[in-house]
Amino acid sequence: MKILVTGAAGYIGSHTALRLIEQGHQVVALDNLVYGHRDVLTTLGIKDYYIGDIGDPNLLRRIFQEHRFEAVMHFSAFAYVGESVTKPDIYYNNNVVRTVTLLDRCVEAGVKAFVFSSTCATYGMARSDRISEDHPQNPINPYGQSKLMVEHILRDYERAYDLRHVILRYFNAAGADPKARIGERHDPETHLIPLVLDAALGRRDSIKIFGTDYDTPDGTCIRDYIHVNDLAQAHILGLEQAINQNASAIYNLGNGNGYSVKEVIETCREVSGRPIQTEATERRAGDPPVLVAAADKARKQLGWQPEFADLESIVTHAWRFHESHFA
Ligand code: UFG
Repeated sequence: MKILVTGAAGYIGSHTALRLIEQGHQVVALDNLVYGHRDVLTTLGIKDYYIGDIGDPNLLRRIFQEHRFEAVMHFSAFAYVGESVTKPDIYYNNNVVRTVTLLDRCVEAGVKAFVFSSTCATYGMARSDRISEDHPQNPINPYGQSKLMVEHILRDYERAYDLRHVILRYFNAAGADPKARIGERHDPETHLIPLVLDAALGRRDSIKIFGTDYDTPDGTCIRDYIHVNDLAQAHILGLEQAINQNASAIYNLGNGNGYSVKEVIETCREVSGRPIQTEATERRAGDPPVLVAAADKARKQLGWQPEFADLESIVTHAWRFHESHFA
């Protein structure tokens, strides 16, 4: 298939683009490089790429004139929860308004399916230990709200224009390409695992633990870490199913296992063999104590089988990339 991948120079977009290419699909990349990295496109060997914005109608018109896509995978978005609270305008503008511009071109060009990166942040505070797709969606920050708005828009576009969608609600994306060709490098970095690995490398003195008084076994927050390559594979399976069955679907993507912040740090110590200093600090605003997916639907309906479901493999791959890239 020929697929337009927006945000292909970013973390999850690049790992999915790589997997698409390895499975014989033709990838055309679009990235404005605000957070993406140009060298990633070179590493992936993508020749058809456009540096520009999903909100630029003229650029989109050109891209859709030059290529005929069967599907679009839409990764580009702003994704800093804290920033979304202080600057909601840029989140609604970038994540919602510009996505509508992209969707309109998809409808006009007769694209069959649109795969959308959504998030467990659309659920807000968890009401159950494991969150399934029908859990109420009450986001507690503009980032989650912006993603939920697009989910609603996609349902309306399907009804009105027959554009099929696959909505994928990620839990905590982590890990890296096992061969360390690409990996996680956000700037600024806010995610737990790369920050802990920074401490292992001596790029920071210690890792702050945001809250040790949660109602969890060791007092720290629990998350469901999912390997970025397993996320990538779910995108491909979801897309194939949407096209083969001519139907839309929504899936949670997680392993269904929760690990605490302290467990993550311990695993990073074991994998890296380095000492890692910690500093217990205040809770971070907006952090739910526990977020774990019930992801049986993707397993059953897509035959999705995460390959790296254990935290050790996830951290091993993250460390391999981190060490080779930042040491
Ligand atoms: N944490 C620390 N210290 C740090 C960084 C993080 O203790 O220096 C803790 C956080 O408080 C949280 C856990 O580690 O309990 C994981 O934090 P991340 O920032 O790595 O990930 P989040 O769970 O906050 O964020 C993820 C996705 C977001 C998504 C969010 C939904 O990365 O895109 O889940 O809640 F919006």
